[in-house]
Amino acid sequence: MEKIAVIGAGLMGHGIAQIFASHGICASLVDLDRHTLDHAIQSIRNNLFLMAEFGLGLKEDIDLIVDRISTTTDLEQGVDQATFVIEAVAENLSLKQRIFHDLDALCPTSVILASNTSVISITEIALKAKRQERIVGTHFWNPPHLIPLVEVVPGDNTKAETVDATYKILLDVGKHPVKVKKDVPGFVANRLQHALWREAISIVANGIADAATVDECVKYGFGLRLPFLGPMENADMVGTDLTLAIHEYILKHIESSPSPSPHLAKLVGDGNLGFKSGKGFQEWSKDQIETSHRELQRYLLKTLKEKSQKSAD
Ligand SMILES: NC(=O)c1ccc[n+]([C@@H]2O[C@H](COP(=O)([O-])OP(=O)(O)OC[C@H]3O[C@@H](n4cnc5c(N)ncnc54)[C@H](O)[C@@H]3O)[C@@H](O)[C@H]2O)c1
Repeated sequence: MEKIAVIGAGLMGHGIAQIFASHGICASLVDLDRHTLDHAIQSIRNNLFLMAEFGLGLKEDIDLIVDRISTTTDLEQGVDQATFVIEAVAENLSLKQRIFHDLDALCPTSVILASNTSVISITEIALKAKRQERIVGTHFWNPPHLIPLVEVVPGDNTKAETVDATYKILLDVGKHPVKVKKDVPGFVANRLQHALWREAISIVANGIADAATVDECVKYGFGLRLPFLGPMENADMVGTDLTLAIHEYILKHIESSPSPSPHLAKLVGDGNLGFKSGKGFQEWSKDQIETSHRELQRYLLKTLKEKSQKSAD
């Protein structure tokens, strides 16, 4: 593969382009906004610099990698010659449908068209395109250059060859792709994540524990095991019989509302948007916000470094 195109150069798009460029593939970044494109290139430079500081890549390669990335505000120009296209525009169904309609018309049939949607059905996104067999979900995680997982999701009309080829492409650029069997909203990982968040919010709303305590329960408890022990292996480890006994007792007490929590809706209604406003479930000073972003980045870089050392050994 010589060239890919990424549509949308925001938070996710620039990191996705970086992944491919770091593996020797030219990437064309397309956005409506020229300022976003310039900012994307600067962010990629910063990411690569920080990675090199942690021994993940070399500082002398940064210019070479960045030179593989071109930017444009013209979709047709951006996808020209690309053999793989990833859409990473805002999470809006009609916008994504329009883009896939246009991509379908612009790109030869051999080109795979992927969406980085977080939760929207791939079948629905592909609905306005003629050749839906080559449209697939590739759900990267933020920050995409540091989190290995990509969920590969077929729509109802996606061909198995499209899924297999996408899986292989992602493997070749160092990601950890997984194949999701069915196109359901939220796929696998966001369903798991938001099942946990719904319960966490419910615990706070019902005065069972405050927000900081909920996070402590995760960070100092079962969260420590999670990188090594997923819930399915854990259920087998403790025994399916114990898992059944616990579920028989507890499930009726766990939050099962199909709607967002009124507590969450009130926070948003009051303008308490979390880091964005300095207050959400908890209060955040500028310093705390900066520290949180910085330490998360460092933690992910260290983890990735350890993983790459292990696989090299
Ligand atoms: N932010 C996350 O943590 C995260 C994680 C996984 C997946 N996603 C998904 O990735 C997608 C992008 O999210 P993001 O956080 O990068 O959004 P973002 O708002 O940071 O970036 C979206 C970019 O798309 C551009 N855009 C809008 N319409 C366009 C068009 N017609 N042509 C070209 N560019 C256009 C915007 O100018 C913007 O720069 C969404 O579907 C989101 O759900 C986000």
